[in-house]
Amino acid sequence: MRKKLISVMLSVAMTASLLAGCGSEPAQESKPQETTEAAPEQAEGQEEAAEPEAAQPEEAPADNGELPILGAGIYSSTDNFNSYIAKSITGASDGVFQVNVDDGQMDQATQLNQIDTALAKGAVAICVSVVDITAAPAIIQKCQDAGDVPIIFFNKEITDKDVVASYDNLYQVTSTGGDYGAAIQGQMIVDYWNAHPEMDKNGDGKLQMINVMGDPGHTASQPRADYVESTITDAGIGIEVLERDTGMWDTAKAKEKMDAWVSKYGDEIEAVVCANDAMALGVLQSVEAAGFNLEGTDSEQYIPIIGIDALPEMLEKIESGEVIGSVLQDASTQGKVIVAIANNVSQGKDALDGLDFELDTDGSKAVRVPYAAITADNVDVAAANYTE
Ligand code: BGC
Ligand code: CA
Repeated sequence: MRKKLISVMLSVAMTASLLAGCGSEPAQESKPQETTEAAPEQAEGQEEAAEPEAAQPEEAPADNGELPILGAGIYSSTDNFNSYIAKSITGASDGVFQVNVDDGQMDQATQLNQIDTALAKGAVAICVSVVDITAAPAIIQKCQDAGDVPIIFFNKEITDKDVVASYDNLYQVTSTGGDYGAAIQGQMIVDYWNAHPEMDKNGDGKLQMINVMGDPGHTASQPRADYVESTITDAGIGIEVLERDTGMWDTAKAKEKMDAWVSKYGDEIEAVVCANDAMALGVLQSVEAAGFNLEGTDSEQYIPIIGIDALPEMLEKIESGEVIGSVLQDASTQGKVIVAIANNVSQGKDALDGLDFELDTDGSKAVRVPYAAITADNVDVAAANYTE
């Protein structure tokens, strides 16, 4: 346990130091362009207009209208995790880019139109989490036609290496490992099982679990479902999977499915493993409505639930013990890295200039930001990810 905690803390410290390299630099680099122009809005203002020359170049530029345009989009604003990346992109773009993160509304045609519009406005780079990964070639074509505009795919990794190789100006920003955080999640279940013998409610030495999967069309869904199970069984714990089904990454859908399962299995359920926090929160709503998880982890009426992402709304539930934990997927760092890469490549610099990250050598051209285990012992680590 202690060893594990130390390694988590180390990896957190590492992430923090990696971050130190990318948090503030883009804002400073882009500054020279904007400060040269007059600031129409401020000129009309009162106090500030008196001493434009004296304003320190470190501060926000006079007029965002002078900044280059970053075309940015997420596949859907209903996706909590993507919304946090969007927030980070917006924050990191302050003083660097004009950006308005578009909502693809789960519709590829809508997202393609948004990309057309951004390119028509002269976007110097495009960054998107695609609605449908098979649309990548069409997006690449648009960027190419607009004059080799750089593109950064994030969150939904383009796994077709030929597509990735087809465009030099393409980068990806995702998280570490082909298991998409599920090995960490599986290990957390193993640790919990070892520390809480009462988890084996029926005493049969096996874990009766429900595996709530993400959208089957998403790169991370199958690996998360598979690796969490194999990590548990590799640790010598037998499992009986009561249900393995998709909640489509979505709180309401996961709740709906869990409503049926909790009434079918009730006390037989020894764990609910969710491929993301949005679904874990839906599952929690369902089990609480059925009278579980209202009185702490030691109560007989407790169903251990775990997620992935470590969203702020999940951290409260981890702290209160309503769920056992989550795996931090670092939306904040991902957003900063996306903006830094866009800033670098649009100025003809090396994509990773000033960043302590590398591109994966597996042909994905991906920067992979590390995952980290989050339990009640270290929620502050994940919380720090959302303060700015
Ligand atoms: C996240 C999910 C999210 C999905 C959408 C995954 O990496 O863990 O929360 O719904 O990406 O693309
Ligand atoms: Ca059991």
